[in-house]
Amino acid sequence: MTQPVSTPLQQLVVLIREATGNVIPAARLGSLEEVAQRRAQVTVRGGLDEYVRALAAHQLDGEWGTLVSLVTIKESYFFRAPQQFDVIVKQVLPALVRARAGPRHLRIWSAACARGEEPATLAMLLAEEPSLSGWSWTIVATDLDEEALAGARLGLYGERAVAQVPPDLLERWFKRRGKLFELDATLRSRISYQILNLAHAPYALPFAELDLVLMRNVLIYFRRPLQRWVVSQVAKLLAPEGYLFLGASETLWQIQDELESVDLGPCFAYRHRKSQPAAAPAPAPPKRSHRRPTPPPAPPAEERPRWTDQNPRDWSVSRAATAVAPAPEPPPAAPAGGVQERLLAAARDLSENRVEDARRILEGALAADPSEPATHALEGFLHDLCGRTEEAVGSYRAALYLDPALFQPRVLLADCLLRLGKRDLAEHQFREVLTLLTSGREKALALFEGLPLPDRERAGRRCRQVLKGG
Ligand SMILES: C[S@@+](CC[C@H](N)C(=O)[O-])C[C@H]1O[C@@H](n2cnc3c(N)ncnc32)[C@H](O)[C@@H]1O
Repeated sequence: MTQPVSTPLQQLVVLIREATGNVIPAARLGSLEEVAQRRAQVTVRGGLDEYVRALAAHQLDGEWGTLVSLVTIKESYFFRAPQQFDVIVKQVLPALVRARAGPRHLRIWSAACARGEEPATLAMLLAEEPSLSGWSWTIVATDLDEEALAGARLGLYGERAVAQVPPDLLERWFKRRGKLFELDATLRSRISYQILNLAHAPYALPFAELDLVLMRNVLIYFRRPLQRWVVSQVAKLLAPEGYLFLGASETLWQIQDELESVDLGPCFAYRHRKSQPAAAPAPAPPKRSHRRPTPPPAPPAEERPRWTDQNPRDWSVSRAATAVAPAPEPPPAAPAGGVQERLLAAARDLSENRVEDARRILEGALAADPSEPATHALEGFLHDLCGRTEEAVGSYRAALYLDPALFQPRVLLADCLLRLGKRDLAEHQFREVLTLLTSGREKALALFEGLPLPDRERAGRRCRQVLKGG
């Protein structure tokens, strides 16, 4: 049988996924191609095929770092998802202060920290917290992208990044430098920045146990098996009393059983289970020390990066695994048509109440491409239908994270929030929908015509009715 021939672009997508876990969705292939063509000119003075071949054969020193920096998404800002920081200050820190009253030391990890907006937000809050005076705390902030970390160490931010910093904190912790804002150097010195690839074991962190982990808005770029593997690594590092926060739109539902979601009011966190999960075999109780006597298990074979050594700065993937001819793997992402067909089938199953069939299809679709907003929206609809309102909120948020202009998941999210008694948050979403509808920038989920989703008129009516107090 002849090997399927894949294009250099498809090979590059596979290389990136193997090295970093990041799935490049179909919609971003065009911009990846542009970036790669540019890099090909600069590095091999040739075409994409020569570039990919040279990249796979380790002939381009330092090129992985440059490429990764260009293709990963660095969207972040101070006080992103402020409800999570509020909960950290009001609920998590008091609990940790009680749990750590002996050593009076907190160990915190901001995984995938981008240019440092997230760990710096946390550092400001810790520095301001009276109950931590006399305590020591360390934040280790990691990312795959060396350039982003260099930016974090520099501590210079534009207006957009600091727009949500409360004015008194802005005044105390930043210095104006022309159009930029410089984060206070003493605060920066309390954060240790280091490169760490979440898709690559072992995680070389300075602590064996962590009290608080923020791993927000990064799992969304990985396939399901890698998400599961990453979470299992993090669970090993999380102290028995520790807390894990994901992005506000992310959920571990159906990804793993080790950690359980804890409702903290405005948001969720994940913690070690107090009791065994119902159907799973009994996991070992959380250990005091999470030092690993044996090497950690490898990432799932499908996603496993093939490293030549354990140096996270070395972006090279092994020659054997990624030789360009024949293709390293069959072409990557399912064709767009494939995703659409799966979603149509899932929508049909849902409209005819075949919930389990729909769930299986959606799980497959998410495993193949976690970056398709419609899949998350349908998953939200499925949860909603089954009465799992909190999970529905997570899925709708994921859809909106990927495409904020979708008005239907937003209305459905708002209704879920109402049902959960979170009227303020719900009203905010209803207002967002109205703004979208009046601006004409809204997008509809045309795929789901078989499902009872609100059209523009009904959505607008619903928003106005709730906002009038209905
Ligand atoms: C959207 S930003 C999230 C930043 C921040 N956590 C937040 O929520 O605002 C995603 C970050 O994940 C990083 N990233 C992507 N793949 C990664 C990997 N395999 N290991 C570590 N970081 C990764 C990217 O470089 C980027 O900085």
